[in-house]
Amino acid sequence: MKYIQLPLAMLLAGVCSAGNSIRAAEPATIDLTQWKPPDIATVGEDPFGKLVKYGHALFSNTANEIGPSVPDPAKRFAGNNLACQNCHLQAGTQPYAMPMLGIWGQFPQYRGREGDVTSVEERINGCMERSMNGRALLFASREMKAFASYLRWLSNEIPDGAKLRGAGTLKIQEPERAADPVRGAEVYAHVCSACHGQNGLGVRAQNGLGYQFPPLWGPDSFNNGAGMSRILTAAAYAKHNMPLGAKFDAPFLTDEQAYDVAGYIVTQIRPEKSDLDKDYPIRLQKPIDAPYGPYADEFPATQHRLGPFGPIRAKVKELGAVSQSSNGSASENASHEAEGAK
Ligand code: HEC
Ligand code: HEC
Repeated sequence: MKYIQLPLAMLLAGVCSAGNSIRAAEPATIDLTQWKPPDIATVGEDPFGKLVKYGHALFSNTANEIGPSVPDPAKRFAGNNLACQNCHLQAGTQPYAMPMLGIWGQFPQYRGREGDVTSVEERINGCMERSMNGRALLFASREMKAFASYLRWLSNEIPDGAKLRGAGTLKIQEPERAADPVRGAEVYAHVCSACHGQNGLGVRAQNGLGYQFPPLWGPDSFNNGAGMSRILTAAAYAKHNMPLGAKFDAPFLTDEQAYDVAGYIVTQIRPEKSDLDKDYPIRLQKPIDAPYGPYADEFPATQHRLGPFGPIRAKVKELGAVSQSSNGSASENASHEAEGAK
């Protein structure tokens, strides 16, 4: 008996430690720039499949499903007529256009904006309340389950916690100066206005409630609490995705042009979110280009909006080092800042 048990126990121990050593290894890296997204046409009519398809419709046709002018008042969750995929291009599959591929397995995660660990549902509601200038979905609603199912399905075959190349946005090489909205206006007039309109208000779709070319500012745009209202996010996005057809490996704008045109966009009028002072309860974790205070440092609001960011970054680092040595509450500013480009 003992004679048999001993090798078995050793074998089991061997299996367990092999399992542990796999877990302790570096997380898998998935290159989304080479990833073939799943095909929505292959999704079936089972209960999960139906929700995936509804999620795809919500994501790509948001204004007609849950926009502010849909016939059923109970479904008016979004406050503007944008679609999720106006920013998350190709139904959330384009690399460096904040794709949804693999995002399921990145949550729950700590987020500085909430100062807490948040679920994927809370993250979806973050875009509902800011990018869509609307209201949060109930977690038990069919709409939230559909978004979650769609994201789950898009993440098929991508391991939880994988490092994702092509997620978020790809940073620009940031000029060591403030962005110049006047030069940005010239870039806008030459490159962007043909589609987004001279007045930035976009062009409505011929059919339905959404846009053929979405607005970049004005009353039907994202609000000032949205990620896109931060200059470094907008510049990174514009350089690697705009004008439509530009890609991260085939950009059209230079870094200087992207920086200036983003500076022009973030100084336009847009809806204002309430309670923004509650964001980033740990102020040192606030992105240096958040266009609203309060800030941990003394730099003026205009510099946070338009740069130059080098001096702010240095100061935040210094303040972070101080608070770390005084009370041990480490600032994660450095890693947080990299978030947009993760
Ligand atoms: C105006 C542009 C815009 C629109 C419209 C928009 N988003 Fe986002 N979304 C962003 C940006 C920018 C980020 C990431 C950067 C940030 O938050 O600072 C993001 C991040 C996300 C993330 C987290 C992705 C990650 O890499 O961790 C999810 C999930 C998400 N959005 C879902 C949605 C959904 C669902 C909708 C529609 C209901 C939507 N978004 C509409 C701009 C937008
Ligand atoms: C050829 C037409 C075209 C041009 C030119 C163009 N865009 Fe876009 N842009 C679009 C379309 C279409 C979308 C929405 C994509 C979708 O829904 O698939 C979009 C989306 C966007 C978005 C995210 C959605 C929103 O409402 O904020 C931003 C930001 C943006 N464009 C900025 C720019 C900037 C900056 C320029 C100039 C450098 C530019 N675009 C030039 C067609 C264009």
